[in-house]
Amino acid sequence: MKVLAFGSEAVIYEKNGIIIKRRVKKSYRIREIDEKLRKNRSKAEFNIMRFLYESGLNVPRPLKYLEERKEIWMEKIEGIRLAEEFSVNDAKETGRTVAKMHNLGIVHGDLTTANIIKRDKKLYIIDFGLSYHSSKDEDFASDIFLFKNALKSKHNDLYKEAYYSFLHAYKSKIRKEFKGIDTHLKDIEERRRYNESY
Ligand SMILES: Nc1ncnc2c1ncn2[C@@H]1O[C@H](COP(=O)(O)OP(=O)(O)O)[C@@H](O)[C@H]1O
Ligand SMILES: [Mg+2]
Repeated sequence: MKVLAFGSEAVIYEKNGIIIKRRVKKSYRIREIDEKLRKNRSKAEFNIMRFLYESGLNVPRPLKYLEERKEIWMEKIEGIRLAEEFSVNDAKETGRTVAKMHNLGIVHGDLTTANIIKRDKKLYIIDFGLSYHSSKDEDFASDIFLFKNALKSKHNDLYKEAYYSFLHAYKSKIRKEFKGIDTHLKDIEERRRYNESY
C-alpha cells in the first residue's frame, strides 16, 4: 500500500489501482464524538459519490465503504489534476460539470483545481468530504465563489479569462435561474470586500 496524500482530514492510499480514503483521528475531539463524526462524514461522502456516479456525473466509481475503518474505496482516476495543468478550456469544462452537479442538488464545498482530475480530456470531480445536498442559490454561489478564489490564487495568469469561461459555461447549463445565484454571489463578494478593509 502506497500513501498518496496526507491531508488534515484524510489519508489517501493506493493499492492495485484502487484508492482508499481513510478519515483520520482528530485528537482534540472527545474520542466517542470523533468516532461518530468520522463515520458519519465518511458515509455521507460515500453516499454522495455513489449518487453522483449513478446519475452519470464523472466521479471516481465508488467501490465500498468500510464503516469501522472509516474507509472509502474507489476507482483511481489516472490523470493529472487541474492544479498541475490548467487551461481556459478546462475552466469551461469545469463550469459545465459544476452546473450538472448543482442540477443534481449537490454542493461540493471544496471546489478547487486540486479536486478536479483530467483523464482522456474528461474532467472528474473528487473529494466530496465537505459536500451536501442543497439546491439553494446561496449554496451554489458559495461553490462558485470558492472556485473563483482558487483561480485567483493558484492560476492568476489565466484568472480573468478562465473565470469568464467557467461562468459562461455554468450559466448555459444550470437549470435554475442564474439571477438568484448571481445576487448571492455579489453578496458574498460584497461581504468579503467589507471584511478585507478592516
Ligand atoms: N479517485 C482518485 N483518483 C486519483 N487520485 C485521487 C483520488 N482520490 C484522491 N486522489 C488524490 O489524493 C488527493 C487527496 O484526496 P482528497 O479526496 O482530495 O482528500 P483531501 O480531503 O485530503 O483533500 C487528491 O488531491 C488526489 O491527488
Ligand atoms: Mg482534496
